[in-house]
Amino acid sequence: MTRLTITRPDDWHLHLRDGEMLKAVLPHSASWAGRAIIMPNLVPPVVTGNDASAYRARIEQALPDGYDFTPLMVLYLTQQSDPADIRAAHEKGVIQAVKLYPAGATTNSASGVKDIDAVMPVLEMMAECGIPLLVHGEVTHDSVDIFDREAVFIDTVLTPLRERLPSLRIVMEHITTEQAATYVAAADSNLAATITPHHLIINRNAILAGGIKPHYYCLPVAKRETHRLALVKAATSGNEKFFLGTDSAPHTDPLKLQACGCAGVFNAPNTLACLAQVFEQENALDKLEGFASMNGPRFYGLGVNETHITLIRHDTPQPAPAPIETVDGQVTVFDPLMEIYWTIDS
Ligand code: NCD
Ligand code: ZN
Repeated sequence: MTRLTITRPDDWHLHLRDGEMLKAVLPHSASWAGRAIIMPNLVPPVVTGNDASAYRARIEQALPDGYDFTPLMVLYLTQQSDPADIRAAHEKGVIQAVKLYPAGATTNSASGVKDIDAVMPVLEMMAECGIPLLVHGEVTHDSVDIFDREAVFIDTVLTPLRERLPSLRIVMEHITTEQAATYVAAADSNLAATITPHHLIINRNAILAGGIKPHYYCLPVAKRETHRLALVKAATSGNEKFFLGTDSAPHTDPLKLQACGCAGVFNAPNTLACLAQVFEQENALDKLEGFASMNGPRFYGLGVNETHITLIRHDTPQPAPAPIETVDGQVTVFDPLMEIYWTIDS
């Protein structure tokens, strides 16, 4: 048995939902993450400073006693977003960032942005105030193949935006391609990226080979193996531009397992165990703390967590987490399709 103690991690991209689902999933993140960037794609979305305050209060209320967890709130950028409201919310410390969803790109993104020009006043204000823009980096045109949507986004949206507003700080969320990993690594320090545990572990065969497996369907969709390898290299490289964003995105099994199933992987319960396994396989356990606990706060200009967490490497494979129960049905936990020898010391 080996033990690995690291600074308490954070999750820089998390879907907590609301109501009963929020109550069911929150402890699975709060048990290991000190803070999390909370995605605003509720129905209706979290658009104003008041929406964010109210959502933060609901999260705090749903947190059981004994957990030390801080939600970092994010506003959902729409073409009607008010720069003055966003600026005020940031100045009051209510929000940490603003999320750009291209309209129609993913779950609950109908209110997203169709025309970047329409949100330029907001983006200019954000660049001036140092508010990070988090991007779902996929174009949505029917004419672009779903496996190419991230790479096309870089060329047609992200590069022009960075040229127009070089001082805007941007996080390319949940990157899935070699193109994104290379692009972010080569960019200046205003661009960083989050990487999910599942994109470090599965490629598109997990979704499509040997029968269709809806639990592996998420957006951006997993790509071919060469891309997974590029993401593993980026995450384990020690490069400060890459940090953990789980994109843990719970949907009940009835909503996943249907003719048109929802996109999203729920990985909060086994994020750290899966990550430790990947980093161990790469002989990069010494880089895990940077990826999970250091690089994110550095980009966001926050201090690192003061507490620590210990991971235990067992001699035998550890049982997979059971599905979690909610009033609307079960939520299946990400199955990494490999043996996991790690647990969190409780
Ligand atoms: C997310 C969700 O379910 O809210 N789904 C997903 O596949 N990742 C939305 C998102 O982050 O794209
Ligand atoms: Zn997400």
